[in-house]
Amino acid sequence: MSELRQTAQEILVITDPETKLIRIKQLFDSYHQQNISLDVSNVLNADGFTLPGRPQKPELVPPLTVPKRRMDTIEGRLSLLHSLAHIEFNAMNLALDAIWRFADMPAQYYVDWLKVAKEEAYHFSLITEHLQSVGVAYGDFPAHNSLWEMVERTSDAVIARMALVPRTMEARGLDAVPAIRDRFQQIKDHQVVEILEIILRDEVGHVLIGNQWFNFLCAKESLSPIKVYKELARAYRAPVLRGPFNLEARKEAGFTAEELSLLGT
Ligand SMILES: [Fe+2]
Ligand SMILES: [Fe+2]
Repeated sequence: MSELRQTAQEILVITDPETKLIRIKQLFDSYHQQNISLDVSNVLNADGFTLPGRPQKPELVPPLTVPKRRMDTIEGRLSLLHSLAHIEFNAMNLALDAIWRFADMPAQYYVDWLKVAKEEAYHFSLITEHLQSVGVAYGDFPAHNSLWEMVERTSDAVIARMALVPRTMEARGLDAVPAIRDRFQQIKDHQVVEILEIILRDEVGHVLIGNQWFNFLCAKESLSPIKVYKELARAYRAPVLRGPFNLEARKEAGFTAEELSLLGT
């Protein structure tokens, strides 16, 4: 019988997005049909692998060299949607990485991240299918890789990963998506609005999962989440958060009133 964490790593290495999507869905189904085991204690390493497996395109460029995405041109809107597709691609990879890399977490941790992987795969397919319908393929625009860079930077500690990837990087999506959705609403692109609504709804759940496991790890070590977050953000050079913040979504995603009041400070 294959093992969940080992298989998550195998899927992370796959370069072809289509194959990766299919394998994530299969992994989710086989775990829930109890056709795959879970070994939480196995310490795996990625020696000899280039992570994540990704196609040759998109070309990766530094964030500041990505041309500004104008919402008032078709090209700008396509480029914006392409950048979201790339974020979703990295989001599936980061969920797989959270599964294989960190041993000795409770079983529910792996089940939670498996659900995230499946939802990110769905988001990626929603956006790329939409792009395909207008003649754009994933890889047609350059992309920047800040999300994956934060994943790499936090490879040594699950508490840093939970603090800085779901509850920092993914939480920024909660702030950013509503404004993008509203712009597509203005131009009456209902299909894109619908896709962004699905993403926003699911992303609240991903940030919630990050919050739950971050708080679990803090409680286990009797640490103050607020104090530890500040220390980790500094140590791992997390981006400084800038408003406007989607306080309602962030509250739903498990941030406390005190954490919300400290945003942007
Ligand atoms: Fe997503
Ligand atoms: Fe997500």
